[in-house]
Amino acid sequence: MARENFGSRTTAIMAMAGSAIGLGNIWRFPYMVGQNGGAAFILVYIVSAILLCIPIFLSESIIGKRTQLSTFGAMEKLAPGSGWKWMGFLTVFTPLIILSYYSVVGGWSIEYFIKSLGFAFSDPAVSRTEHSAIFGGFITSTWKPLLWHTVFMLLNALLVVFGVQKGIEKFTKVTTPVLFVLMVVIMIYSLSLPGARAGVDYLLKPDFSKLTGSAMLSAMGQAFFSLSLGVGCILTYASYLKKDENVLSTGLFTAGFDLFFALIAGFAIMPAVFAAGIEPGAGPGLIFETLPYIFSSMGQSAPVVSGIVAIVFFITILFAALTSSISMLETGVAYLVDERKMGRVKATVILFAGCWLLGVLCSLSFGPLRDVQLPGGTIFDFCDKLTSNFLMTFGSLLFVLFVGWKMKKADVRDEFTNGGSLKANSRLFGFFYFLVRWVAPIAIIVIFASNLFL
Ligand code: TRP
Repeated sequence: MARENFGSRTTAIMAMAGSAIGLGNIWRFPYMVGQNGGAAFILVYIVSAILLCIPIFLSESIIGKRTQLSTFGAMEKLAPGSGWKWMGFLTVFTPLIILSYYSVVGGWSIEYFIKSLGFAFSDPAVSRTEHSAIFGGFITSTWKPLLWHTVFMLLNALLVVFGVQKGIEKFTKVTTPVLFVLMVVIMIYSLSLPGARAGVDYLLKPDFSKLTGSAMLSAMGQAFFSLSLGVGCILTYASYLKKDENVLSTGLFTAGFDLFFALIAGFAIMPAVFAAGIEPGAGPGLIFETLPYIFSSMGQSAPVVSGIVAIVFFITILFAALTSSISMLETGVAYLVDERKMGRVKATVILFAGCWLLGVLCSLSFGPLRDVQLPGGTIFDFCDKLTSNFLMTFGSLLFVLFVGWKMKKADVRDEFTNGGSLKANSRLFGFFYFLVRWVAPIAIIVIFASNLFL
Protein backbone atom coordinates (compact mmCIF):
# COMPACT_ATOMS: atom_id res chain seq x y z
CA MET A 1 0.00 0.00 0.00
CA ALA A 2 1.37 3.43 -0.92
CA ARG A 3 2.20 5.51 2.06
CA GLU A 4 0.31 8.76 2.47
CA ASN A 5 2.09 11.96 1.58
CA PHE A 6 1.57 15.54 2.53
CA GLY A 7 0.04 17.16 -0.53
CA SER A 8 2.51 19.96 -1.09
CA ARG A 9 5.46 21.86 0.24
CA THR A 10 3.29 24.42 2.00
CA THR A 11 1.13 21.82 3.69
CA ALA A 12 4.22 19.94 4.84
CA ILE A 13 5.64 23.08 6.40
CA MET A 14 2.26 23.97 7.85
CA ALA A 15 1.85 20.54 9.40
CA MET A 16 5.31 20.61 10.94
CA ALA A 17 4.77 24.16 12.12
CA GLY A 18 1.40 23.01 13.46
CA SER A 19 3.16 20.37 15.51
CA ALA A 20 5.78 22.82 16.69
CA ILE A 21 3.55 25.78 17.44
CA GLY A 22 1.28 25.04 20.32
CA LEU A 23 0.91 25.37 24.04
CA GLY A 24 4.69 25.16 24.20
CA ASN A 25 4.94 28.63 22.71
CA ILE A 26 1.90 30.27 24.22
CA TRP A 27 1.61 28.65 27.61
CA ARG A 28 4.94 27.03 28.47
CA PHE A 29 7.44 29.54 27.11
CA PRO A 30 6.18 32.58 29.08
CA TYR A 31 6.08 30.75 32.40
CA MET A 32 9.46 29.12 31.88
CA VAL A 33 10.89 32.57 31.17
CA GLY A 34 9.24 33.81 34.35
CA GLN A 35 10.55 30.95 36.45
CA ASN A 36 14.08 31.12 35.11
CA GLY A 37 14.86 34.79 35.32
CA GLY A 38 13.90 36.42 32.02
CA ALA A 39 16.30 37.66 29.37
CA ALA A 40 19.27 35.38 30.13
CA PHE A 41 16.99 32.36 29.74
CA ILE A 42 15.72 33.71 26.43
CA LEU A 43 19.28 34.14 25.23
CA VAL A 44 20.16 30.51 25.92
CA TYR A 45 16.86 29.52 24.35
CA ILE A 46 17.63 31.39 21.13
CA VAL A 47 21.19 30.07 20.90
CA SER A 48 19.92 26.52 21.49
CA ALA A 49 17.23 26.98 18.88
CA ILE A 50 19.76 27.99 16.24
CA LEU A 51 22.78 25.85 17.01
CA LEU A 52 21.12 22.75 18.43
CA CYS A 53 17.50 22.57 17.38
CA ILE A 54 18.04 23.12 13.69
CA PRO A 55 20.64 20.31 13.39
CA ILE A 56 18.40 18.00 15.44
CA PHE A 57 15.37 18.90 13.38
CA LEU A 58 17.31 18.20 10.19
CA SER A 59 18.67 14.93 11.55
CA GLU A 60 15.18 13.70 12.30
CA SER A 61 13.95 14.91 8.92
CA ILE A 62 16.75 13.13 7.10
CA ILE A 63 16.06 9.82 8.83
CA GLY A 64 12.31 10.11 8.29
CA LYS A 65 12.37 11.19 4.68
CA ARG A 66 15.04 8.66 3.72
CA THR A 67 13.23 5.68 5.16
CA GLN A 68 9.58 6.79 4.99
CA LEU A 69 9.10 4.93 8.25
CA SER A 70 8.56 5.93 11.86
CA THR A 71 11.46 5.74 14.31
CA PHE A 72 11.58 2.05 15.11
CA GLY A 73 11.49 0.84 11.53
CA ALA A 74 13.61 3.73 10.29
CA MET A 75 16.47 2.89 12.62
CA GLU A 76 16.23 -0.77 11.77
CA LYS A 77 16.32 0.01 8.07
CA LEU A 78 19.33 2.31 8.30
CA ALA A 79 21.29 0.26 10.83
CA PRO A 80 19.98 -3.30 10.52
CA GLY A 81 20.63 -5.62 13.44
CA SER A 82 22.03 -2.85 15.64
CA GLY A 83 20.57 -1.70 18.94
CA TRP A 84 19.46 1.63 17.47
CA LYS A 85 15.96 0.41 16.79
CA TRP A 86 15.28 0.36 20.52
CA MET A 87 15.21 4.10 20.29
CA GLY A 88 11.84 3.45 18.76
CA PHE A 89 10.44 2.72 22.20
CA LEU A 90 11.69 5.97 23.60
CA THR A 91 9.88 7.70 20.82
CA VAL A 92 6.67 5.84 21.47
CA PHE A 93 6.54 6.50 25.18
CA THR A 94 7.92 10.01 25.53
CA PRO A 95 5.31 11.77 23.40
CA LEU A 96 2.57 9.84 25.16
CA ILE A 97 3.76 11.02 28.57
CA ILE A 98 3.90 14.55 27.19
CA LEU A 99 0.44 14.17 25.72
CA SER A 100 -1.02 13.15 29.04
CA TYR A 101 -0.15 16.40 30.79
CA TYR A 102 -0.46 18.48 27.65
CA SER A 103 -4.03 17.34 27.38
CA VAL A 104 -4.72 18.63 30.89
CA VAL A 105 -3.65 22.11 29.83
CA GLY A 106 -5.53 21.63 26.57
CA GLY A 107 -8.54 20.99 28.79
CA TRP A 108 -7.96 24.24 30.67
CA SER A 109 -8.06 26.08 27.37
CA ILE A 110 -11.41 24.47 26.57
CA GLU A 111 -12.73 25.78 29.89
CA TYR A 112 -11.44 29.26 29.07
CA PHE A 113 -12.86 29.11 25.57
CA ILE A 114 -16.27 28.28 26.97
CA LYS A 115 -16.01 31.04 29.53
CA SER A 116 -15.08 33.50 26.82
CA LEU A 117 -18.29 32.64 24.96
CA GLY A 118 -20.20 34.16 27.86
CA PHE A 119 -18.01 37.30 27.67
CA ALA A 120 -16.67 36.35 31.11
CA PHE A 121 -13.53 38.39 30.71
CA SER A 122 -15.12 41.66 29.71
CA ASP A 123 -16.99 42.14 32.97
CA PRO A 124 -15.32 45.07 34.77
CA ALA A 125 -16.94 44.00 38.04
CA VAL A 126 -14.61 41.00 38.29
CA SER A 127 -11.19 42.08 39.52
CA ARG A 128 -7.78 40.72 38.59
CA THR A 129 -7.43 38.89 41.88
CA GLU A 130 -10.88 37.41 41.52
CA HIS A 131 -9.93 36.06 38.09
CA SER A 132 -6.84 34.45 39.65
CA ALA A 133 -8.94 32.98 42.42
CA ILE A 134 -11.42 31.59 39.90
CA PHE A 135 -8.58 29.96 37.97
CA GLY A 136 -7.10 28.52 41.18
CA GLY A 137 -10.48 27.16 42.18
CA PHE A 138 -10.96 25.59 38.78
CA ILE A 139 -7.65 23.71 38.48
CA THR A 140 -7.72 22.47 42.06
CA SER A 141 -11.21 21.07 41.68
CA THR A 142 -11.69 17.43 40.78
CA TRP A 143 -14.29 16.95 38.08
CA LYS A 144 -14.35 19.87 35.72
CA PRO A 145 -10.66 19.71 34.69
CA LEU A 146 -11.08 15.95 34.25
CA LEU A 147 -14.08 16.44 32.02
CA TRP A 148 -12.18 18.87 29.76
CA HIS A 149 -9.10 16.67 29.73
CA THR A 150 -11.31 13.84 28.51
CA VAL A 151 -12.92 16.02 25.85
CA PHE A 152 -9.51 17.19 24.66
CA MET A 153 -8.22 13.62 24.42
CA LEU A 154 -11.33 12.55 22.52
CA LEU A 155 -10.95 15.36 19.97
CA ASN A 156 -7.38 14.28 19.57
CA ALA A 157 -8.21 10.66 18.96
CA LEU A 158 -10.88 11.56 16.40
CA LEU A 159 -8.46 13.69 14.43
CA VAL A 160 -5.82 11.00 14.43
CA VAL A 161 -8.29 8.35 13.29
CA PHE A 162 -9.21 10.46 10.27
CA GLY A 163 -5.60 10.20 9.17
CA VAL A 164 -2.89 12.41 7.83
CA GLN A 165 -4.62 13.96 4.85
CA LYS A 166 -8.07 14.71 6.12
CA GLY A 167 -7.48 15.31 9.79
CA ILE A 168 -4.19 16.99 10.19
CA GLU A 169 -3.56 18.98 7.02
CA LYS A 170 -6.80 20.84 6.60
CA PHE A 171 -6.95 21.84 10.19
CA THR A 172 -3.58 23.41 10.56
CA LYS A 173 -3.69 25.56 7.46
CA VAL A 174 -6.43 27.82 8.73
CA THR A 175 -5.82 28.18 12.42
CA THR A 176 -2.11 28.91 12.65
CA PRO A 177 -2.23 32.18 10.68
CA VAL A 178 -5.27 33.38 12.64
CA LEU A 179 -3.54 32.69 15.92
CA PHE A 180 -0.49 34.52 14.72
CA VAL A 181 -2.39 37.67 13.85
CA LEU A 182 -4.25 37.64 17.16
CA MET A 183 -1.05 37.13 19.10
CA VAL A 184 0.41 40.21 17.45
CA VAL A 185 -2.73 42.22 18.28
CA ILE A 186 -2.53 41.15 21.90
CA MET A 187 1.17 41.91 22.01
CA ILE A 188 0.64 45.45 20.76
CA TYR A 189 -2.12 45.98 23.27
CA SER A 190 -0.12 44.48 26.11
CA LEU A 191 2.86 46.71 25.34
CA SER A 192 0.62 49.75 25.60
CA LEU A 193 -0.57 48.95 29.15
CA PRO A 194 0.65 51.23 31.93
CA GLY A 195 3.56 49.51 33.68
CA ALA A 196 4.37 47.33 30.66
CA ARG A 197 7.88 48.75 30.56
CA ALA A 198 9.08 46.61 33.47
CA GLY A 199 8.03 43.51 31.54
CA VAL A 200 9.94 44.60 28.46
CA ASP A 201 13.06 45.21 30.56
CA TYR A 202 12.63 41.79 32.10
CA LEU A 203 12.65 40.24 28.64
CA LEU A 204 15.52 42.26 27.26
CA LYS A 205 18.00 42.90 30.09
CA PRO A 206 19.78 39.69 31.01
CA ASP A 207 20.63 38.93 34.63
CA PHE A 208 23.29 36.27 34.26
CA SER A 209 23.33 35.47 37.96
CA LYS A 210 20.02 33.68 37.37
CA LEU A 211 21.56 31.42 34.76
CA THR A 212 22.14 28.26 36.77
CA GLY A 213 22.82 24.83 35.30
CA SER A 214 19.20 23.94 35.76
CA ALA A 215 18.01 27.16 34.10
CA MET A 216 20.21 26.35 31.11
CA LEU A 217 18.91 22.81 30.94
CA SER A 218 15.38 24.16 31.11
CA ALA A 219 16.09 26.64 28.31
CA MET A 220 17.46 23.88 26.13
CA GLY A 221 14.57 21.61 27.12
CA GLN A 222 12.10 24.35 26.24
CA ALA A 223 13.74 24.82 22.85
CA PHE A 224 13.43 21.08 22.18
CA PHE A 225 9.89 20.97 23.49
CA SER A 226 8.83 23.87 21.35
CA LEU A 227 10.11 22.25 18.17
CA SER A 228 8.75 18.80 19.11
CA LEU A 229 12.26 17.35 18.99
CA GLY A 230 13.90 14.21 20.27
CA VAL A 231 10.85 11.98 20.29
CA GLY A 232 10.42 11.08 16.65
CA CYS A 233 7.52 13.46 15.98
CA ILE A 234 9.43 15.36 13.35
CA LEU A 235 10.88 12.10 12.07
CA THR A 236 7.39 10.68 11.63
CA TYR A 237 6.08 13.81 9.91
CA ALA A 238 9.17 13.91 7.69
CA SER A 239 8.42 10.35 6.65
CA TYR A 240 5.28 11.73 4.98
CA LEU A 241 7.33 14.24 2.96
CA LYS A 242 7.70 13.70 -0.75
CA LYS A 243 11.10 12.49 -1.86
CA ASP A 244 12.03 15.70 -3.65
CA GLU A 245 11.19 17.89 -0.65
CA ASN A 246 13.90 20.18 0.67
CA VAL A 247 14.52 19.29 4.32
CA LEU A 248 16.68 22.34 4.94
CA SER A 249 14.09 24.88 3.93
CA THR A 250 11.31 22.98 5.71
CA GLY A 251 13.43 22.97 8.86
CA LEU A 252 14.44 26.61 8.67
CA PHE A 253 10.89 27.77 8.06
CA THR A 254 9.48 25.70 10.88
CA ALA A 255 12.16 26.66 13.38
CA GLY A 256 11.92 30.30 12.35
CA PHE A 257 8.14 30.44 12.71
CA ASP A 258 8.29 28.66 16.01
CA LEU A 259 10.93 30.90 17.52
CA PHE A 260 9.16 34.01 16.33
CA PHE A 261 5.90 32.77 17.79
CA ALA A 262 7.40 32.10 21.19
CA LEU A 263 8.99 35.52 21.33
CA ILE A 264 5.73 37.21 20.38
CA ALA A 265 3.94 35.24 23.08
CA GLY A 266 6.61 36.36 25.56
CA PHE A 267 6.12 39.98 24.58
CA ALA A 268 2.36 39.58 24.71
CA ILE A 269 2.31 38.05 28.18
CA MET A 270 5.22 39.45 30.21
CA PRO A 271 4.42 43.17 29.93
CA ALA A 272 0.88 42.41 31.08
CA VAL A 273 2.21 40.24 33.92
CA PHE A 274 4.15 43.21 35.23
CA ALA A 275 1.36 45.68 34.51
CA ALA A 276 -1.06 43.54 36.52
CA GLY A 277 1.39 42.86 39.35
CA ILE A 278 1.27 39.10 38.79
CA GLU A 279 4.25 37.08 40.02
CA PRO A 280 6.36 36.17 36.91
CA GLY A 281 7.40 32.86 38.51
CA ALA A 282 3.78 31.82 39.02
CA GLY A 283 4.24 28.61 37.03
CA PRO A 284 1.87 26.71 34.76
CA GLY A 285 -1.08 28.99 35.54
CA LEU A 286 0.67 32.15 34.36
CA ILE A 287 -1.13 32.81 31.09
CA PHE A 288 -4.49 31.76 32.47
CA GLU A 289 -4.16 34.44 35.13
CA THR A 290 -2.73 37.05 32.80
CA LEU A 291 -5.06 36.75 29.84
CA PRO A 292 -8.25 37.55 31.76
CA TYR A 293 -6.51 40.69 32.98
CA ILE A 294 -5.56 41.63 29.42
CA PHE A 295 -9.07 41.02 28.10
CA SER A 296 -10.83 42.78 30.93
CA SER A 297 -8.67 45.87 30.73
CA MET A 298 -9.22 45.87 26.97
CA GLY A 299 -12.90 45.55 27.79
CA GLN A 300 -13.02 48.78 29.77
CA SER A 301 -12.82 50.81 26.60
CA ALA A 302 -14.21 48.33 24.07
CA PRO A 303 -16.14 45.49 25.71
CA VAL A 304 -17.51 43.95 22.53
CA VAL A 305 -14.15 43.99 20.78
CA SER A 306 -12.39 42.46 23.76
CA GLY A 307 -15.11 39.85 24.10
CA ILE A 308 -14.69 38.82 20.49
CA VAL A 309 -10.89 38.88 20.64
CA ALA A 310 -11.06 36.61 23.68
CA ILE A 311 -13.34 34.11 21.95
CA VAL A 312 -11.25 33.92 18.80
CA PHE A 313 -8.06 33.81 20.83
CA PHE A 314 -9.09 30.87 23.00
CA ILE A 315 -10.50 28.89 20.11
CA THR A 316 -7.29 29.33 18.14
CA ILE A 317 -5.19 28.34 21.17
CA LEU A 318 -7.29 25.24 21.34
CA PHE A 319 -6.62 24.50 17.68
CA ALA A 320 -2.91 25.16 18.10
CA ALA A 321 -2.88 22.77 21.03
CA LEU A 322 -4.70 20.12 18.99
CA THR A 323 -2.42 20.36 15.98
CA SER A 324 0.49 19.75 18.37
CA SER A 325 -1.11 17.03 20.39
CA ILE A 326 -2.19 15.04 17.36
CA SER A 327 1.47 14.88 16.36
CA MET A 328 2.25 13.23 19.70
CA LEU A 329 -0.50 10.66 19.37
CA GLU A 330 0.33 10.15 15.69
CA THR A 331 3.91 9.21 16.61
CA GLY A 332 2.70 6.33 18.76
CA VAL A 333 -0.02 5.32 16.32
CA ALA A 334 2.45 5.28 13.42
CA TYR A 335 4.59 2.84 15.38
CA LEU A 336 1.74 0.45 16.09
CA VAL A 337 0.47 0.66 12.52
CA ASP A 338 3.87 0.37 10.80
CA GLU A 339 5.57 -2.12 13.07
CA ARG A 340 2.81 -4.06 14.78
CA LYS A 341 0.50 -4.05 11.78
CA MET A 342 -2.34 -2.90 13.96
CA GLY A 343 -5.36 -1.10 12.53
CA ARG A 344 -5.37 2.65 12.91
CA VAL A 345 -8.51 2.73 15.01
CA LYS A 346 -7.37 0.03 17.40
CA ALA A 347 -3.96 1.65 17.83
CA THR A 348 -5.56 4.99 18.57
CA VAL A 349 -7.96 3.53 21.12
CA ILE A 350 -5.21 1.73 23.02
CA LEU A 351 -2.95 4.77 23.22
CA PHE A 352 -5.87 7.01 24.04
CA ALA A 353 -6.65 4.89 27.08
CA GLY A 354 -3.10 4.96 28.44
CA CYS A 355 -2.66 8.69 27.95
CA TRP A 356 -6.03 9.50 29.34
CA LEU A 357 -5.28 7.60 32.52
CA LEU A 358 -1.91 9.23 33.13
CA GLY A 359 -3.53 12.57 32.31
CA VAL A 360 -6.12 11.96 35.02
CA LEU A 361 -3.32 11.70 37.58
CA CYS A 362 -1.67 14.84 36.19
CA SER A 363 -4.93 16.73 36.39
CA LEU A 364 -5.64 15.60 39.96
CA SER A 365 -2.13 16.60 40.97
CA PHE A 366 -3.35 20.22 41.14
CA GLY A 367 -6.14 19.24 43.53
CA PRO A 368 -6.72 16.05 45.52
CA LEU A 369 -3.27 14.62 44.68
CA ARG A 370 -1.30 17.81 45.22
CA ASP A 371 0.58 16.34 48.16
CA VAL A 372 2.01 13.47 46.16
CA GLN A 373 5.60 14.57 45.70
CA LEU A 374 7.87 13.03 43.08
CA PRO A 375 11.33 14.18 41.97
CA GLY A 376 10.73 17.59 40.39
CA GLY A 377 7.46 18.29 42.19
CA THR A 378 3.90 17.07 41.70
CA ILE A 379 2.91 14.30 39.26
CA PHE A 380 2.32 16.98 36.62
CA ASP A 381 5.74 18.60 37.24
CA PHE A 382 7.41 15.21 37.25
CA CYS A 383 5.99 14.21 33.86
CA ASP A 384 6.93 17.61 32.46
CA LYS A 385 10.51 17.65 33.76
CA LEU A 386 11.16 13.99 33.06
CA THR A 387 10.22 14.44 29.42
CA SER A 388 11.52 17.87 28.49
CA ASN A 389 14.71 17.92 30.54
CA PHE A 390 15.67 14.28 30.24
CA LEU A 391 13.90 12.06 27.72
CA MET A 392 13.71 14.61 24.92
CA THR A 393 17.27 15.76 25.50
CA PHE A 394 18.47 12.18 25.48
CA GLY A 395 16.46 11.37 22.37
CA SER A 396 17.82 14.42 20.59
CA LEU A 397 21.36 13.40 21.48
CA LEU A 398 20.79 9.95 20.04
CA PHE A 399 19.37 11.37 16.81
CA VAL A 400 22.35 13.64 16.17
CA LEU A 401 24.81 10.90 17.09
CA PHE A 402 23.05 8.58 14.69
CA VAL A 403 23.17 10.98 11.76
CA GLY A 404 26.62 12.34 12.59
CA TRP A 405 28.41 9.09 13.41
CA LYS A 406 26.39 6.07 12.41
CA MET A 407 24.83 6.86 9.04
CA LYS A 408 27.13 6.95 6.04
CA LYS A 409 28.20 10.49 5.26
CA ALA A 410 27.35 9.99 1.61
CA ASP A 411 23.79 9.00 2.51
CA VAL A 412 23.34 11.98 4.77
CA ARG A 413 24.63 14.27 2.05
CA ASP A 414 22.40 12.61 -0.51
CA GLU A 415 19.29 13.21 1.58
CA PHE A 416 20.30 16.72 2.62
CA THR A 417 20.96 17.81 -0.96
CA ASN A 418 18.45 15.53 -2.75
CA GLY A 419 21.21 13.76 -4.59
CA GLY A 420 23.17 16.96 -5.15
CA SER A 421 20.35 18.72 -7.00
CA LEU A 422 19.92 21.41 -4.34
CA LYS A 423 22.87 23.72 -4.85
CA ALA A 424 22.45 25.90 -1.76
CA ASN A 425 22.15 22.82 0.44
CA SER A 426 25.30 21.36 -1.08
CA ARG A 427 27.21 24.46 -0.10
CA LEU A 428 25.86 24.38 3.45
CA PHE A 429 26.36 20.68 3.95
CA GLY A 430 29.82 20.95 5.55
CA PHE A 431 28.57 23.39 8.17
CA PHE A 432 25.49 21.30 8.91
CA TYR A 433 27.57 18.16 9.24
CA PHE A 434 29.97 19.88 11.61
CA LEU A 435 27.07 21.01 13.84
CA VAL A 436 25.55 17.55 13.86
CA ARG A 437 28.80 15.72 14.49
CA TRP A 438 30.41 17.99 17.04
CA VAL A 439 28.58 21.06 18.24
CA ALA A 440 25.17 19.57 19.02
CA PRO A 441 26.31 16.42 20.85
CA ILE A 442 28.97 18.19 22.89
CA ALA A 443 26.66 21.05 23.85
CA ILE A 444 23.89 18.68 24.90
CA ILE A 445 26.26 16.59 26.99
CA VAL A 446 27.87 19.63 28.63
CA ILE A 447 24.58 21.29 29.56
CA PHE A 448 23.19 18.00 30.75
CA ALA A 449 26.23 17.26 32.90
CA SER A 450 26.42 20.79 34.25
CA ASN A 451 22.92 20.35 35.55
CA LEU A 452 23.79 17.08 37.24
CA PHE A 453 27.01 18.19 38.84
CA LEU A 454 26.80 21.94 39.44
N1 TRP B 1 5.99 21.57 20.19
C1 TRP B 1 4.65 21.55 20.67
C2 TRP B 1 4.35 22.84 21.39
O1 TRP B 1 5.15 23.73 21.37
C3 TRP B 1 4.40 20.39 21.57
C4 TRP B 1 4.78 19.11 20.96
C5 TRP B 1 4.23 18.51 19.88
C6 TRP B 1 5.76 18.26 21.43
N2 TRP B 1 4.85 17.33 19.64
C7 TRP B 1 5.78 17.16 20.58
C8 TRP B 1 6.61 18.37 22.48
C9 TRP B 1 6.69 16.15 20.79
C10 TRP B 1 7.50 17.36 22.67
C11 TRP B 1 7.54 16.28 21.85
O2 TRP B 1 3.33 22.99 21.96
